[in-house]
Amino acid sequence: MRDNKAKFPHFPGSTLNRLAVGVAAAIGGLLLAGAAWADDHERDLHMYEKANSLESDLEHGRKEYKVCVVCHRPEGWGTKDGQYPQIAGQLRGVIIKQLEDIRSRNRDNPTMFPFATSQMLDRPQDIADVAGYIARLPMTTDVGHGSGDDLEHGKKLYDEHCAECHGDGGEGNAEDLIPSLYGQHYAYMVRQFEWIRDGRRRNGDPKMIKQAKMFSERDLKAVMDYASRLPVPEEKRAAPGWKNPDFPEYVRSE
Ligand code: HEC
Ligand code: HEC
Repeated sequence: MRDNKAKFPHFPGSTLNRLAVGVAAAIGGLLLAGAAWADDHERDLHMYEKANSLESDLEHGRKEYKVCVVCHRPEGWGTKDGQYPQIAGQLRGVIIKQLEDIRSRNRDNPTMFPFATSQMLDRPQDIADVAGYIARLPMTTDVGHGSGDDLEHGKKLYDEHCAECHGDGGEGNAEDLIPSLYGQHYAYMVRQFEWIRDGRRRNGDPKMIKQAKMFSERDLKAVMDYASRLPVPEEKRAAPGWKNPDFPEYVRSE
């Protein structure tokens, strides 16, 4: 055996040993932590982070979107009854995060769950592509609203409690993964808000949850009615009568 002292002449042997033990312990600790990280949820989180850093290939995204069309339709405009959200035009990072939350069961969505699992979107690139495709779909402005008779109260609540995160115009925040709210159906938002408040959607922002718990039924309806009427920016709106030409074979019921 070679003497360490010969290799590191300036270190007395005992210091060197202590150093070696320290380094070994640190590496051991890292390995243990690494093993704990490697569960499914963490793998999913990694997928999502990876997807977020990739460029979207929109042509491939269109192909991925084919399976989503059954429920979300070619335009991604959702339904006024709030069963489906308008996903068209949502921020790309938010779409990626929602997909990840649905697949890791952070959001109860039994209908969509099979479509968000790794068999369907099995590479971070797939997630980035389909999210990029949806994000650039033009939006409908024909969305569901509330009764319209408490909008002043709604605006006051929105400006006081929501704008700091969702933006004055409901534009959301790409960096902090806060959804845009303009163009979203009233009934969908009411349901999401209730689900975030009641923990059925377990990815909510803690500050928003706290706030939501203080809101009365009247407050909730008023603020969502107001939010559903925030104008969709001009450049994100679909032209009148627009149908997504990428899905010519899709049969529309109406
Ligand atoms: C079987 C029907 C179904 C299919 C197929 C489906 N979805 Fe969904 N999706 C839903 C429903 C229902 C919701 C609303 C869930 C809720 O209310 O929490 C939803 C919600 C979402 C949301 C969250 C939007 C938001 O702002 O909260 C995203 C993003 C989404 N879907 C993307 C996709 C993509 C991408 C695909 C295809 C890979 C897809 N969905 C396939 C039914 C479906
Ligand atoms: C502290 C920041 C914050 C505040 C304040 C806040 N939100 Fe949110 N909100 C979020 C985040 C973050 C999400 C996305 C949670 C997730 O990842 O599912 C969200 C999600 C939502 C959604 C679901 C949107 C979708 O497409 O699924 C609605 C609706 C909503 N917020 C409405 C409101 C309203 C109305 C208010 C004011 C009463 C409010 N929020 C206040 C951060 C906030």
